[in-house]
Amino acid sequence: MKMNILSSTAQTEIELITLALEKEGLPTKFERLGEGAWHYAYYIPKEDLVLRLPKKIAYDKEVAFDEKLFKTEYEGTKQFYSHANKVKEDICPKYFRYTVSEPLTYTIESYAGRTTPLADQTPAQAKLFGREIGSFFLGLEELEAPLPGVGYLTLNDDEKLTGFYNMNLQAMIREETEEYQQELEALLSSPYPFDKEKVAAFGRELIAQRAVESEKCIFTNQDTSPENILFTSGGIRIIDPYPILYTGTSLAANFAFNYQTLFHSLHNTRRYGKGNYQHVVPQLKANAEGFIEAYTSGSEQKQKDLTVEVFIKLVTMAHDHLDLLQRERLNEEQIIRFGTKGQIEERLRFFLNELEHYPRRMKHGIL
Ligand SMILES: Nc1ncnc2c1ncn2[C@@H]1O[C@H](COP(=O)(O)OP(=O)(O)O)[C@@H](O)[C@H]1O
Ligand SMILES: [Mg+2]
Repeated sequence: MKMNILSSTAQTEIELITLALEKEGLPTKFERLGEGAWHYAYYIPKEDLVLRLPKKIAYDKEVAFDEKLFKTEYEGTKQFYSHANKVKEDICPKYFRYTVSEPLTYTIESYAGRTTPLADQTPAQAKLFGREIGSFFLGLEELEAPLPGVGYLTLNDDEKLTGFYNMNLQAMIREETEEYQQELEALLSSPYPFDKEKVAAFGRELIAQRAVESEKCIFTNQDTSPENILFTSGGIRIIDPYPILYTGTSLAANFAFNYQTLFHSLHNTRRYGKGNYQHVVPQLKANAEGFIEAYTSGSEQKQKDLTVEVFIKLVTMAHDHLDLLQRERLNEEQIIRFGTKGQIEERLRFFLNELEHYPRRMKHGIL
């Protein structure tokens, strides 16, 4: 039997890159640009474009080819980029294309520029970048959601993107609020020491004040990682989003919480260790400060809603940690993302301390 060399499957990285670039009619000269947990990125200087190839191994596990999952992710990115650019021109890559097939899956997008690492930013610069992101998040709230449904995106049977839940946003918020109340109760009945009486008193009250009726569903981004927000000389650029249809307040709180509290606490994990976030706490906090200022833009209502929502992020992250500790053993991905049980327990204690001191932060308006 003769082998059909034309249909032989591409194997090496270089072969895949060349195949993708040829398929796009692009020059095949490229430079390595970077990598995240899921993709390798290559720069094509002549066209100022970026080619991304999905990694074969992520979180120490082989990535199975899942057509629907890839299409959902890339179509979601494409739609978020175009939506975000309506709020602020060029905040996301203008050009984005993708191909999904078993032998060859890739994305091509505009190059968004080079980031200034947090360590090279002064706190004042970091705050300005934060302001820019905050006003962008506020701007997103002005636009109607371009897709139906609520939650993370999924492809329906007609290959159209929708939110995973086909339900009313208010009903969804109410359901989740109940879960957050339960998570707070679980923390209160855990064996870990903190001023439980105090946290029970203000915490239950705070969660009960969560905004419901006033919230509307918008198309926004859950990814806040400094790997995917580029701090360029021309301002901020957002790449590699995790799009979601949800309330603006919730995703603004996610941003504030991650920069104020979460990222530096993850410095000892394999996933976030490279960021060395423990050395850039002033920049992270300054960024959050600028973000909150611009996002709330003097509205007392927005400050109040954000205060509740950031508290909820803290509760649910602490609860995730408690939950991990109660498992018999952690899987590989959990260890890469959160560390060993010892590190998780140490981080939980830090969150519980933050929880206890939350009223002080509220009083000083530093959220
Ligand atoms: N369009 C782009 N412009 C500039 N840099 C990019 C672009 N796309 C990716 N990169 C660089 O490559 C890195 C990895 O790409 P990313 O898409 O974030 O991969 P992952 O999905 O694994 O997180 C990014 O953190 C960034 O440094
Ligand atoms: Mg990324």
